[in-house]
Formats: sequence, C-alpha cells, structure tokens
Amino acid sequence: WRCYDSTLITDDIMFIVLIRSKMGTMKSLLIVCMFVFVYSCVSSLNNLISLCLCLGLANSRKDVVTVTPWLAPIVWEGTFDMNILDAIYKPQNITVANTVFAVGKYVQFLKDYLESAEQYFMLGYRVHYYIFTDQPEAVPTVTLGADRRITTLKIPGSDRWQEITLRRMEMIENLIETQLVSEADYIFCLDVDTKFYGHWGAESLSRLVAAVHFGFYSASREHFTYERRPESQAYIPYGEGDYYYGGAMIGGLVREVYKVTKTCHLWLDMDKANSIEAVWQEESHLNKYFLYNKPTKLLSPEYLWHGPYAGNEVKIIRFTQVWKDASKVRPN
Ligand SMILES: *[C@@H]1O[C@H](CO)[C@@H](O)[C@H](O)[C@H]1NC(C)=O
Repeated sequence: WRCYDSTLITDDIMFIVLIRSKMGTMKSLLIVCMFVFVYSCVSSLNNLISLCLCLGLANSRKDVVTVTPWLAPIVWEGTFDMNILDAIYKPQNITVANTVFAVGKYVQFLKDYLESAEQYFMLGYRVHYYIFTDQPEAVPTVTLGADRRITTLKIPGSDRWQEITLRRMEMIENLIETQLVSEADYIFCLDVDTKFYGHWGAESLSRLVAAVHFGFYSASREHFTYERRPESQAYIPYGEGDYYYGGAMIGGLVREVYKVTKTCHLWLDMDKANSIEAVWQEESHLNKYFLYNKPTKLLSPEYLWHGPYAGNEVKIIRFTQVWKDASKVRPN
C-alpha cells in the first residue's frame, strides 16, 4: 500500500515496527490489516465518485438505448441533469407553443389536460397554449401560472375522427405561418386525450423532436405498422425505418415543425387525390417524414405512455394517453 511514495513506505514501516514492539506480532498484524482494509475502501470510494463525475449522468442507464445510430439522444429518466439544462435554456427567454385539438366530445379532456400541464409541462418557461376547437364556449377556465396563456381558435367540427387528424397538419401549418413565426421559439403538438403525470421540461427541447411509440420501443422493424402500400405517400418498404414514432407528439423549433406540417399536409392531399388513406393517417406520414428527416432528439415512451402503470424500463410516466371508450367520444 502507498507504494507510489517511498517516504510514506518508510513511515509505514516505522509505524509497524513501533506497534509491533508495543503489542506483539499478532495484534500489530491485525491492526495493519485493518488499516489496509479501511484505506482500500476509502480509495475505491474516491475512484467510484470520480468515475461518476467523469462519465456524468449520461451513462447512468444501461438497460435502455440512449442514443440513436445517427447520434441523437433518446431521453430517459436518469440521462439528463435538469440544473444544467435550465442553465442553458432559461437565459434564452424562450416561448414554447403547445397546440391541442379538442373537437366534438374531445372537449371533455381539456380540463385534465390543461390542469396537469400547469403542474408538469415546461414549468418556469413561457408557455402559450393554442386550443383548436369547434366549441370555444366549452374550453374550461383553468388557473394559469405566470407567463402562461391560452388562445382558443375556432374550427369546424367533423363527422369522422380520421378527418380531424387529417386536417391537423394543415391547421398547425397555417397557425405557424400567420402567428407563431413571430410568437414562439419551440412548439409541441400534442393529443388532447392525454394527461401529464410527471416532469416534462427543457430536456425535451431540440431542433426536431419525435416520441418513440410505447407499443414498439422494443419491437423489431418488421413489426412496425408503417404504411406498406406503395400507392400512398406514406409508403415505407419492409427493411427500412429506424423507429416507430407516435403521432400524438411532434416537437421542435417552430420553423422545423413548420416543415413537418407543410410536407405532411402536401402528402395527405396527394393521397386524398388518389383516394387512398394511410393506415394510421397522420402518424403514417409522420413516420415517413422522420425516416428521411431524422429527428435530432427522441423522447422515450416516458413522454408518450398509455396508462397509469409504468413498465420495466419506463420508471416514470410523464405524459400518457387516458383511457377512453372510443365509441363514446369518436363521432364515427
Ligand atoms: C422575453 O421575451 C418576452 C416575449 O417574447 C419579452 O416580452 C420580454 O421582454 C423578454 N425579456 C427579456 C429579458 O428579454
């Protein structure tokens, strides 16, 4: 022990000689062993601490993939440090826009959605909710935090829920074009039949953000439910594709999300002209878009879950779809 320092070795030998002369061989050996034991514990503890500091928190998850093959981070609990992220984004004085569509009976989800967002979504940042609805009078009054506000936008209703999801891209595109380019920096387009259960903060910010679909995060590529008919603009052939992304979340810089909505709107119109509707409507087109325009950050299923219970790798539920009887809320 301490063999790197000759003066210390001399000290140690002197120490052994001293205690041996006082206590006898066996007792002094016992004491020396105790010293060696305590010293090695302390030094390995130091090593462990410095190793952790060196690697940072980023490698603290070994049970999940935390980076894509194109080096975009996949955000899981335990992979980020909130203090560092807030120190980066808070001084930038950013505004985060959040769009939801509450058409027909879906207005019933607004209260829970907004109240839970006020508890967990981008706390400490300026948040501007844009609610698209056919019933502005049904938008609940929710107490908003400082620097947070709601704008209600009236849109027509529809007889088909597919029609509502198909028109979302176009409406978000128009909103960005007419207002958001000058009003917001980042945007998250979320489904309304959802609820926040945990922190969703600056770790979710990036140029282009997609959420890995909870049903497919551990599935292999052949099982992804991409559109497989070449006649559709959303077509992805077997053997291609990186992840299956959920359609309930699109995020990123306003100008990047604008490109998503503009392109998907175009593809949706082309499909309509060819009398074809992609198997999962907007979600199919979104998956096609993200295949050729790689997201710069992926949110793990913690950010788009499907119920109140966490799974093996999903240690915290941040945002989840709420249980609904589709026949009671969908118009068809
Ligand atoms: C932060 O942004 C808001 C809205 O864009 C603006 O009104 C305000 O003056 C900005 N504050 C600072 C300190 O730049």
